[in-house]
Amino acid sequence: MSEIVLADPLPPLFDEVSASRFTVRPVNSASDAELQQAVGIVSYGHDIIDGEVMDRCPGLRVVSNHGVGVDHIDVVAAVQRGVAVGNTPGCLDSSTADMTMALMLSVARNVVVGDHFARSPEFTHYDPAIYVGQEVTGSTLGIVGMGRIGTEVAKRAKAFEMRVLYFNRNRRPEIEESVGVEFASFDTLLSESDFVSFSCPLTDETHGMIGTQQLKQMKSSGILINVARGAIVQTDALLEALTSGEIVAAGLDVTDPEPLPRDHPLLQLRNVIITPHLGSASNHTRRQMMQMTVDNLVAGVEGRKLPTQVS
Ligand code: DGY
Repeated sequence: MSEIVLADPLPPLFDEVSASRFTVRPVNSASDAELQQAVGIVSYGHDIIDGEVMDRCPGLRVVSNHGVGVDHIDVVAAVQRGVAVGNTPGCLDSSTADMTMALMLSVARNVVVGDHFARSPEFTHYDPAIYVGQEVTGSTLGIVGMGRIGTEVAKRAKAFEMRVLYFNRNRRPEIEESVGVEFASFDTLLSESDFVSFSCPLTDETHGMIGTQQLKQMKSSGILINVARGAIVQTDALLEALTSGEIVAAGLDVTDPEPLPRDHPLLQLRNVIITPHLGSASNHTRRQMMQMTVDNLVAGVEGRKLPTQVS
């Protein structure tokens, strides 16, 4: 029998890329014998992989994450158990930056509400007074997190002649020079930006970093875009800010919780666009992500250093 890997349902692309090398069993319903034999775990849809899950698999060598963010994996627990953790950095920077721009443009220019209206019986004639949005070109974008994805967002924003402010743990002079972005304090970024977007990982530092106070600091015409992790923004505070007019609109590819309960009031707001975590969802990127996931898995199972190892 081939080596056993635990994962929740994987797409056919996994078998294609791994040449059907592995037998895949579900994380939560594998038999005791399968848990004993499992050598790897693939986290495909952000399954929570903590020390308890790892302890059920005494032969575990690697956790391979399909994605760059590993906030759903207990990396410390993995290190303590000698289990390697891999992720897929780099390949999804462009697609995630594209999605940031897509949400920014769609929210600012009323693409979704406009689409609904254009399909409805109410659309009877061209009216220049309806759905007048905000100009993206020439406005100011504040990017929180100037890593690989943030840099790609900034490059796209510069093509829209935007002033780009950024806030990051470490200043990035080389990107300031090559892309033309300006370092700003978090407070300045919030108060001077027309759009505030996030390209940072979810960590203890970023968890809930946008709450009532920070939303009040944004312009009342401000638009918040989140393509990073839902929990960076406090959901109740965002709901309040969007309802009271503290900020004008939001584009959310991620939410906290994700998905939101189906009766959540955010889902009723017309000044919010919500997409189902599509940041890296292009055919090209998905294939590259799967290739990196499999490369890390195979290396870990064979006891080699992972090509893109988190720990
Ligand atoms: C990531 O790469 O972290 C995305 O959220 C997809 O998993």
